[in-house]
Amino acid sequence: MNTKQLIGFAVGALASAYISAAEVNVYSARSEELIKPALDRFSEETGIEVNLITESADALIRRIELEGMNSPADVLLTVDAGRLFRAKEAGILVSVDSEILNQRIPSAYRDPEGEWYGLSLRSRVIMFDKSRVDASEIARYEDLADPKWQGQVCIRSSGNIYNQSLLASLIEHLGEQATQDWAEGLVANMARRPQGGDRDQIRAVVAGQCKLAVANTYYLAGMLNSSVAADVEVAQQIGVLWPNQADRGAHMNVSGAGVIKTAKNPDEALQLIEFLSDDYAQQWYAEVNNEYSVREDIATSTILQQFGDFKADELNLEVLGRNNAAAVRLADRAGWQ
Ligand SMILES: [Fe+2]
Repeated sequence: MNTKQLIGFAVGALASAYISAAEVNVYSARSEELIKPALDRFSEETGIEVNLITESADALIRRIELEGMNSPADVLLTVDAGRLFRAKEAGILVSVDSEILNQRIPSAYRDPEGEWYGLSLRSRVIMFDKSRVDASEIARYEDLADPKWQGQVCIRSSGNIYNQSLLASLIEHLGEQATQDWAEGLVANMARRPQGGDRDQIRAVVAGQCKLAVANTYYLAGMLNSSVAADVEVAQQIGVLWPNQADRGAHMNVSGAGVIKTAKNPDEALQLIEFLSDDYAQQWYAEVNNEYSVREDIATSTILQQFGDFKADELNLEVLGRNNAAAVRLADRAGWQ
């Protein structure tokens, strides 16, 4: 090695040492293939290395609590505002004030104190068998408790956070007693004991077990987008009913992220969340996950356009967390397994 090469080598080594010094540790409850490419792109753009740990949301929250001050976690990435609220309540998140995030993300989709930010959007809607139900037969979540649907509703367990969040929004809009009555009516209308996930409710509709299902939009979109022919065939027989369009709008929820209170790399953590809210990431993220962008200026994917335009409930999603305990109690009392 001559002097020039040696200097070149030293500079190169220094540069790579510098680059590898910048890193961010992400604890994610989203499946790796749905988030990794965006994180790789972030690394390419910024030189910040991303270390990814994937586990269930509740396990990650517990883990961060147990790790305490020594936690390597910088960012928590998870779904459902109810869970993001749980993380906030556990005291593991820190409030960040980002002009970029506040400007890009509507206030309904972020924590009022800046502890978490929604990054993608989904709605929990009523789905129906197009061959047996006319869209004019049902219009609101409230109608799911109407005795005319006795034995015709498929919905998963109330142990699932998506249903708890739907109940939490109903508690906010209708009050606890009316929501209790609704839950009892819903249970009376169930076609079967709750079982499986949202996709299973959709399949049960097409199998003739029920006429209506309650499911998140991305599950149906994912089936339409699937490489499995049977899934596509099932999904094509399903209609999407946007609930409460004449009043408060459809129940919304987010996937989102927050900076960990004990983060060793808080600047990089915020940089990553801001990156996930930028034009490129929003489009990519929403499309790969079959979700809506949290931003109004980002185009909806072709698959989701098939579901048509809709009016979204503008309730601040923090409410879903605040009413979660009441929702769980209420579902128990209603006998919703
Ligand atoms: Fe899900």
